[in-house]
Amino acid sequence: MEKNRILSGIQPTGNLHLGNYLGAIKNFVSLQNKFDCLYMLADYHAITTDYNQAEIKNHIFETTAAFLASGLDNEKNIIFRQSRVSAHLELAWILNCVARLGWLNRMTQFKEKAGENKEKASIGLYTYPVLMTADILIYGATHVPVGEDQKQHLELCRDIAQKFNNDFKVKDFFKLPEPIIPTNVSRIMSLRDGTKKMSKSDPSDSSRINLKDSNDQITQKIRKAKTDNEPIKLNILDENSKRFEAKNLISIYASLQDKNVKEIIKEYDGKTFSIFKNKLIDVMIDKISPISNKIKEIQKDKAFIEKILDTSERKANKIANDNLVKIKNTIGLI
Ligand code: TYM
Repeated sequence: MEKNRILSGIQPTGNLHLGNYLGAIKNFVSLQNKFDCLYMLADYHAITTDYNQAEIKNHIFETTAAFLASGLDNEKNIIFRQSRVSAHLELAWILNCVARLGWLNRMTQFKEKAGENKEKASIGLYTYPVLMTADILIYGATHVPVGEDQKQHLELCRDIAQKFNNDFKVKDFFKLPEPIIPTNVSRIMSLRDGTKKMSKSDPSDSSRINLKDSNDQITQKIRKAKTDNEPIKLNILDENSKRFEAKNLISIYASLQDKNVKEIIKEYDGKTFSIFKNKLIDVMIDKISPISNKIKEIQKDKAFIEKILDTSERKANKIANDNLVKIKNTIGLI
């Protein structure tokens, strides 16, 4: 029986952070034995907003190094650059003709990223969710591990796949992919403001833990992380609790140790955050610092990374091009 297939991606924009790790990469690693997996450096997505032309190649190498350093096996998984598989773009065009303007107008991430002046946003940023849909459907992926912020894009992907199947009367031609979202912490929040997600675009570096931070930086950032003055209590989990920062730190701790959030709260019940933060620092350094060291090590060998990508890209092109022929056939172009 054919194994279910996974496709996911990360924009190589530098500053990979704890949100990317706990929300996505950690899941990539745990899924690699159960699925046939493709993990992508989404470089075509990275150019939809201003980017550093001189640095993007380094960021691609660094993100690939982070995949490997976190435990992804390059023999088992296809780890590749989006821009080296042109079938993604061909399918994106076809799907642009299936997706509806009204659907894209609802995308909250476009609204957030375009900000006040959306007339000045690139068209690429606007149609980005369609390219993301093509990334997934060109491989017939059945599952997509992502953080919660990508959930709406996945719903759009399912809508587009469904409309394609209906329009061309090909029931089940595209499978409707299922998101795989971490249950413990679907969204890691900023260390400075628990209502904002941790993000590489936040101007304050102390709002996030970067995967390449030193032990000292991790220690300083956690010490400075915003909390409230209350002790740790189960009420942190109440639906209308405003203890966002407290919940975030506890969730991070739980996720780093693959434990349940409630379990952790019970363990620290009544304790202050100053005691808890020391434990969090220890656990974080224990988990992040080996990855950080490995990234730096692997990153030095650009020829090694290039070879891995190149080998994977041959495989990705084969699958994508074969599927593209079937798709063009279905829509009447072949
Ligand atoms: P990107 O590069 O913004 O983020 C990569 C992954 O990290 C997750 N993530 C988070 N998870 C939890 N808390 C956070 N604070 C946090 N910040 C980021 C994201 O949810 C994501 O899983 N459009 C995608 C890349 C992409 C893609 C795809 C993903 C392109 N094509 C096809 C899946 C399938 C993006 O910009 O992710």
